[in-house]
Amino acid sequence: MAWLHYFSLINLIFCVCASGQSLRQTVASRPFRIGTAVDVSRLGDLTYRNLIRNEFNQVQPENELKWMVLRPSAATYTFTKFDSLVDFATANGMSLRGHVLIGESGYPSWLTTGNFSQAQLREILRQHISTVVGRYSGRIYAWDVVNEAFDGAGQLKATQWLSHPGIGGAGTQYIETAFRMAHEADPNALLFYNDTNAETLNAQSDAIYRMALDFKQRGVPIHGIGLQMHLDLNGIDIRSLEQNIARFAALGLQVQITELDVRLPVPVGAAPTLSQLSLQADIYAIVAQSCLRSPACTAVQTWGVTDRYSWIPDFFPGTSAALPFDSNYAAKPAYYSLRRALEPSAQLLMRGALRDNASFAVAPISAGQILVLFVNTQATGSSASTPISGFYPTRWQGVEVHFDGIPAPILAVHRDCVVMAAPYGIESKASVPAVVRVNGQASNVVEVEIRAASPGLFTAAGNGTGTVLAHSSDGRLIDRSNPARAGDLVTLYGTGIGRLPGSSAAAVASSPAPQAQFPVSATILGSSAEVQWAGALSGAIVGTSKIVIRVPASLPGGEHPLQLRIGSVSSQAGVTLPVR
Ligand code: XIL
Repeated sequence: MAWLHYFSLINLIFCVCASGQSLRQTVASRPFRIGTAVDVSRLGDLTYRNLIRNEFNQVQPENELKWMVLRPSAATYTFTKFDSLVDFATANGMSLRGHVLIGESGYPSWLTTGNFSQAQLREILRQHISTVVGRYSGRIYAWDVVNEAFDGAGQLKATQWLSHPGIGGAGTQYIETAFRMAHEADPNALLFYNDTNAETLNAQSDAIYRMALDFKQRGVPIHGIGLQMHLDLNGIDIRSLEQNIARFAALGLQVQITELDVRLPVPVGAAPTLSQLSLQADIYAIVAQSCLRSPACTAVQTWGVTDRYSWIPDFFPGTSAALPFDSNYAAKPAYYSLRRALEPSAQLLMRGALRDNASFAVAPISAGQILVLFVNTQATGSSASTPISGFYPTRWQGVEVHFDGIPAPILAVHRDCVVMAAPYGIESKASVPAVVRVNGQASNVVEVEIRAASPGLFTAAGNGTGTVLAHSSDGRLIDRSNPARAGDLVTLYGTGIGRLPGSSAAAVASSPAPQAQFPVSATILGSSAEVQWAGALSGAIVGTSKIVIRVPASLPGGEHPLQLRIGSVSSQAGVTLPVR
């Protein structure tokens, strides 16, 4: 069942987007590189090969330039594997990135157990760099000269070249030496320092920044910083990422996203949920957009193409599905959102930007539910819409939102968001495509899961947590100074109680208002509170719900957790009712 759902989703998205360009076509008119790491041993797989050729304008070997593969013995170099990637890139007009000259680990035992002196090690490194960089001079435009030299505290890690016994010199001197050697071997190659977990402002990126500043001040040949970007569904702090990119840019350095993937918490072979795929798609788009916002950020490269060939399940057990194409080479939502993000004038719609307007939760939506969508509306101010003949408009201030092609009634347009109701007609679907149009320009399409009901409660602070928005039976607002009394009726306000009798989610609720079709239950401090009435709020758009409950007579005084429940779905946690 889960798989079926997944495949019908993919097909749906394909129908909507199949006519689009490839990633590389999307950036073709600009000096921007969209790259991928390639598992060269898989290039015989023609589907894999064609996908890479069609979608990317830059490739980098995943392992074939590492010492472990390249240097079976002190005297030999195995260039043949990497050379096949060079041929492939040349034939297809792709840029080549070199990875890596000095890594944290992954060295052959002849090197690690050879008991070389510092002078010997320095000579081994010099010879390696001059041979490898020299051989591909003019072909590899950028090199990861040193990879992962710093730890999370910003300290240099012990490596072959720093301390076993190292090549001599303290601190970042070995890194400097490697950059100088690489520059000598190919004065035209761009030389990068590459690292993981240094994407945002932290002790590690601070240390890298200090090194880069020092190198720039002393004329050490460094040209860029690679941010690996191995992420999970926690995503990334974009503001911090952009500040980090900006400080390296201010040194005159390029920044490249070198190893982007976003792993999902699902074991290999299990189907991710739609919301996981949607959030993953958001993260791909956010990263690409953050890069594009800085002229110094010149490439986005994924760490692989298809979930069929990915390092993730081996290195992060229990996770998988981190790449833009699934294991059958079908494009995932992440592919489409990445492509959309690469467009010159992208109007980006992200699943995480569509939230319940009462709880602000990102969750499946229901017909009639009042939603807020965070998107750049290009509006100069805020503007609430007005119903005409009892119906809210579906276009306001140039903004329209469609769910499965059905326009949503719009309640307000602000500069950074739109407040609307989910239209009726979506309730029989498992998921629907959503798209926003701003002054006619359509966003990307995101898939949104549907439920019969998805209750959320408005709170007094309007932020979805804390004291519930409620009136006591005398019509006064309930708060700590006017707590509800045990045994009394209390009116709550919410949304997402499901489709009500009537034809349109755009309608203003009549008086008497239509009642909820699904049974609504309520609990306060874990004990059930009788729901006297649940339905629309007369005079408001039908998706605005009014729920009248009776506070259990036996309830002690205090600020108690309060939740509604419809079927198996509860309103958000963290909402409270002050009781005397
Ligand atoms: C990984 C490869 O993807 C794996 O195939 C290999 O077994 C181990 O290395 N950061 C890096 C890459 O800079 O070199 C790593 O590549 C992934 C993490």
